[in-house]
Amino acid sequence: MLDLKRQYQPLHQELLEAVSLVLQTQQFILGEQVAGFEQAASRQLGVAHSLGCSSGTDALWLALAAAQIGEGAAVLTTPFSFFASVSAILRAGATAVLADIDPVTFNLSPTAVEAALNGPQGKAIRAVLPVHLYGQCADFNAFNLLGKERGLKLVEDAAQAWGAEWNGVKAGGLGDIAAFSFYPTKNLSAAGDAGMVATNSDELAERAKMLRQHGMRRRYYHDEIGWNTRMDGFQGAVLEVKLRYIEGWTRSRHNAARRYHALFHAAGLAEAGPYPAHGLVLPHEVAGSRHVWHQYVIRTARRDALRDFLAARKIGSEIYYPVPLHMQDALKCLGYAEGAFPESERAAREVLALPIFAEIREDEQQTVVNAIAEFLS
Ligand SMILES: Cc1ncc(COP(=O)(O)O)c(C=O)c1O
Repeated sequence: MLDLKRQYQPLHQELLEAVSLVLQTQQFILGEQVAGFEQAASRQLGVAHSLGCSSGTDALWLALAAAQIGEGAAVLTTPFSFFASVSAILRAGATAVLADIDPVTFNLSPTAVEAALNGPQGKAIRAVLPVHLYGQCADFNAFNLLGKERGLKLVEDAAQAWGAEWNGVKAGGLGDIAAFSFYPTKNLSAAGDAGMVATNSDELAERAKMLRQHGMRRRYYHDEIGWNTRMDGFQGAVLEVKLRYIEGWTRSRHNAARRYHALFHAAGLAEAGPYPAHGLVLPHEVAGSRHVWHQYVIRTARRDALRDFLAARKIGSEIYYPVPLHMQDALKCLGYAEGAFPESERAAREVLALPIFAEIREDEQQTVVNAIAEFLS
């Protein structure tokens, strides 16, 4: 699926030097390296504030807590995401309300969001938390409008979307506050767990900063119950180096996605969506947006058999995500039955992510496409 060593090898010396600076300064928690990364991240995203923290999951919690979304509030999000999109809401003390996805983009559907806002739980909803799934921004024209009309906070789950854009605005600056993950398989990745909160609001940034250090504004004086969720110096050092390269890697991912598209079309396998018949539905890049291709996800009716076929040929693939969140055992408490979100449930049966990363070679992509063509023939 992903060969991280190809990214690492050319950076080896630069990373060693950056990491050795942390050892020399002995600033292991936050410190100069993290501050340097935060400033560079803000410049790259075009946001006023970036705050490094210990994971994407914590970044989501921090964003919600900074926006004072907790007990008594409900947050509307998608059932077709990684578990943390919902568990962070519950950790913040709020209730999670779900709305179905758009079958073309797999992102939260504005129509479904509007219906939920007009539904029985609508009055308690204080925030919408769209996920930029697979590296493509959710529809922020619609969500910004709904947010303004209804006085809702917009919290972006941008874990998969470093560098993605919507109408020329980068993910991270689209809503009130955003959460990023630098988990090692992400487009911009740390050497361990790390995450970040981004916002244009001075007030939310100040609160997030206080909350990531046990609610302290002044050392050992605790104004609120926060948590320990600081970024460590090694991660800041690694991320600052990788920030210099991420734009080039994103362009390479774009080229790889374009190549897959061309190869699948040439093989006669691509079908018009949103649902597959006998072939494949290819991922769709929304006009005016910039997809960063964290994943290249196809839809196919015989997904599980195809996955086994690829595995037998040592071709990696992955299912993001096989069980929609409302059907997870841990989230039965949300009170949704199977059938509540048909688009998410269908997507969970049909999606398959193919290998994509900046350094993937054309011959490797050709091998993937040939194997899929053989399976479908
Ligand atoms: C959509 C989404 N949200 C949240 C997270 C949580 O990030 P982390 O694994 O860094 O805690 C991830 C990554 O795994 C993710 O893909």
